[in-house]
Amino acid sequence: MGTAILGTGAYLPERVVTNQDLEKIVDTSDEWIQTRTGISTRRIGGQGDETYRLAARAAEKALQMAEVSAYEIDLIIVATISSHMLMPSCACFVQKELGAGRAFAFDINAACSGFVYALDLADKYIQADPNKKILVIGAETLSSRTNWDDRNTCILFGDGAGAVVLGHVEGNRGVIGAKLFSDGNLWRLLHMHTAASCNPELVQSESPGAHIVMEGREVFKYAVKAMEEAIILLLDQEQVALDAIKLVIPHQANIRILNKLVERLGIRAEKVFINVQKYGNTSAASIPIALDEANRDSRMQPGDIVLLCSFGGGFTWGATLIRW
Ligand SMILES: CC(C)(COP(=O)(O)OP(=O)(O)OC[C@H]1O[C@@H](n2cnc3c(N)ncnc32)[C@H](O)[C@@H]1OP(=O)(O)O)[C@@H](O)C(=O)NCCC(=O)NCCS
Repeated sequence: MGTAILGTGAYLPERVVTNQDLEKIVDTSDEWIQTRTGISTRRIGGQGDETYRLAARAAEKALQMAEVSAYEIDLIIVATISSHMLMPSCACFVQKELGAGRAFAFDINAACSGFVYALDLADKYIQADPNKKILVIGAETLSSRTNWDDRNTCILFGDGAGAVVLGHVEGNRGVIGAKLFSDGNLWRLLHMHTAASCNPELVQSESPGAHIVMEGREVFKYAVKAMEEAIILLLDQEQVALDAIKLVIPHQANIRILNKLVERLGIRAEKVFINVQKYGNTSAASIPIALDEANRDSRMQPGDIVLLCSFGGGFTWGATLIRW
């Protein structure tokens, strides 16, 4: 018995932006982007695609699959770094949008690791009270935080949302365990300042603006090593053999990071779910979007062990094991 995923859902904005489209705005090429990142297209939101709206559309699909009404939800956690407002939280807007009148709601910020952090939190709530039904959502409109003049970063990111409904089930199903980490010392390598402070005493002189800033090579190096270590420690903690894993659903940062990780761990490539070519890096949304695609494609059967792993700004990273 444990905390199981009762339903999954995803929502992507309609507009597809290709590498060829990006060639028109920065000095880049389809060939460079494909070989360095594996990304061909990404979805970019427009008017009416605020983060909470994408989140609510994904959540509606997850609720429908779970056969749970919005009113039955006790808690909504949204993992995001790109809400359209700082206050109220994205989760409060989602609650309003869904009409989830009984739920309390809040956001968490763990960048691209936000979904695995939120999943762990929700698992603990359900362990404490098995009657709870929880919506965990990863949702981003990183297009609103991207410097479209910076070819180092603007080619990487996309918008979208993914959601899961969690509840307690009897039997041998659910979250097995998680291993989560952070290292704030490395913040500079991947960060995003908010808008300028209203208090002149608190102005951050080093603030370059509200965009994502990244040292790509350094991030790459840490990401592979950190996810590898988290996975090894988690497998050891839960006494699960690497061979027992049926499907790996990693944060879809970029294909070279994933290939390197798979090679170092010695996992067969066909066990790894990849859709980064279609959506780019959607930060906290990437794992739940991939989870929903894998679920709707019947990539997991009851009893299969699924591994999630992620890495993001903070730095934050971690891994989660689930028995489907
Ligand atoms: C971003 C990344 C793809 C860049 O690849 P790289 O091989 O490290 O490339 P570098 O940054 O060393 O740049 C190599 C050259 O390509 C250039 N370049 C950078 N972006 C480019 C682009 N979009 N198109 C063409 N050239 C580009 C650089 O300016 C540099 O040129 P120079 O040699 O004349 O200075 C890679 O570092 C990476 O994947 N990092 C991890 C990023 C990530 O996933 N972040 C999110 C984690 S959650």
